[in-house]
Amino acid sequence: MDEDHSYRRLEMTVLMTPDMANFAGRVHGGSILKLLDQVAYACAARYSGSYVVTVSVDRVVFHEPLYVGELVTFLASVNYTGTSSMEVGIRVMAENIQARSERHVMTCYFTMVAVDEHGRPHRVPSFTPATPVEQRRWKAAQLRRELRREIERRSLDIRLHPDELAAEHESSRQHETQG
Ligand SMILES: CC(C)(COP(=O)(O)OP(=O)(O)OC[C@H]1O[C@@H](n2cnc3c(N)ncnc32)[C@H](O)[C@@H]1OP(=O)(O)O)[C@@H](O)C(=O)NCCC(=O)NCCS
Repeated sequence: MDEDHSYRRLEMTVLMTPDMANFAGRVHGGSILKLLDQVAYACAARYSGSYVVTVSVDRVVFHEPLYVGELVTFLASVNYTGTSSMEVGIRVMAENIQARSERHVMTCYFTMVAVDEHGRPHRVPSFTPATPVEQRRWKAAQLRRELRREIERRSLDIRLHPDELAAEHESSRQHETQG
């Protein structure tokens, strides 16, 4: 297995331009989501040498806005590999160019899966986390994987039965027509 660790990391910097603004003049959340997805794709595809798809996204939280004119850097790394999946962690930094000040905007996690030409998952190269940082990220990614499964399992428990769903729709439709 190729242990060239540089292929597990990817950095991309984008200037926030006025075409990315929302109605309030700040950067549109959707613009950032698209960039995050592109970074996750490029990082996972380069690492695995395969076409990859996005399966899930964790921890995209906008604690504060991004501003037009800021330079945004996405620092991505493959933190963990399963059989066909990879967790890509992305740290987002925003820089005020004139003030030369930088702030950490968010860190989020994408699960990307390598697929063949028929869209079927296939095996990705694994790696051995060597440094303490890599080992910590690997363990954290494993924990998130377990949490995702737990959330999916518990979400199934609270999902309505199709009959209940139909009754709920009917009831809200009646409320709308009455009111
Ligand atoms: C990705 C996809 C091929 C996986 O298919 P699947 O039938 O679930 O395949 P598997 O059960 O073998 O799972 C494959 C991997 O995906 C992971 N996975 C599946 N569902 C997941 C979820 N909800 N969250 C995180 N990982 C998930 C599995 O853990 C597994 O990882 P591993 O091989 O490392 O153990 C399928 O879900 C798909 O095509 N999804 C659409 C992806 C897409 O189009 N994205 C763009 C949206 S516009």
